[in-house]
Amino acid sequence: MDTFLTCNKNILLIGFMGSGKSTVGRMLAHKSDRYFLDVDTLIEASEGRTIPTIFKENGEAYFRELEKKSAQWMATCVRGSVIATGGGMPLVVKELHTIGHVIYLKLPFEKILERITPEERAKRPLFHDLAKAKQLFEMREKIYEAEADITLNADRSVEEIVNETLLWLDETHGSTT
Ligand code: S3P
Repeated sequence: MDTFLTCNKNILLIGFMGSGKSTVGRMLAHKSDRYFLDVDTLIEASEGRTIPTIFKENGEAYFRELEKKSAQWMATCVRGSVIATGGGMPLVVKELHTIGHVIYLKLPFEKILERITPEERAKRPLFHDLAKAKQLFEMREKIYEAEADITLNADRSVEEIVNETLLWLDETHGSTT
């Protein structure tokens, strides 16, 4: 079979825990002819342990080093993918734009709480204490905005978010997406 392979630029989704990065990412990958990668899943697969276990056994600093390493790998080796980052990644990796287009999925904390199930919260060590999670959210919002090429209102359907992203890509980057 004759195929002509083009590697589109990566798209990175950033935002707080529970803002819908993975759900949006999967549909966006499908519609933009890219693969979908989830950094948390990648780290868990490489380590052979869950994120709560990594935090418990080695601490947060170790986890952040793994995030940095994954960012270096993505900048060098990954093309043509939609990448869902962990919520803390824009704090530890300063040059996310070297990996791809950076899109911030912005959702108010109250909406995040409505969406995130107890089971999903249990998977996130930094979401166990609600007051601390809210503090983290407030501290990070500006950082997400500053790192993003575009901020999207994530308080609507996955399809609407994906369509707006595709429109933005087309308008700003055309056929060189
Ligand atoms: C974290 C977010 C999590 C995961 C880890 C730390 C954070 O990813 O990377 O628990 O610091 O916000 P999600 O944003 O996918 O939940």
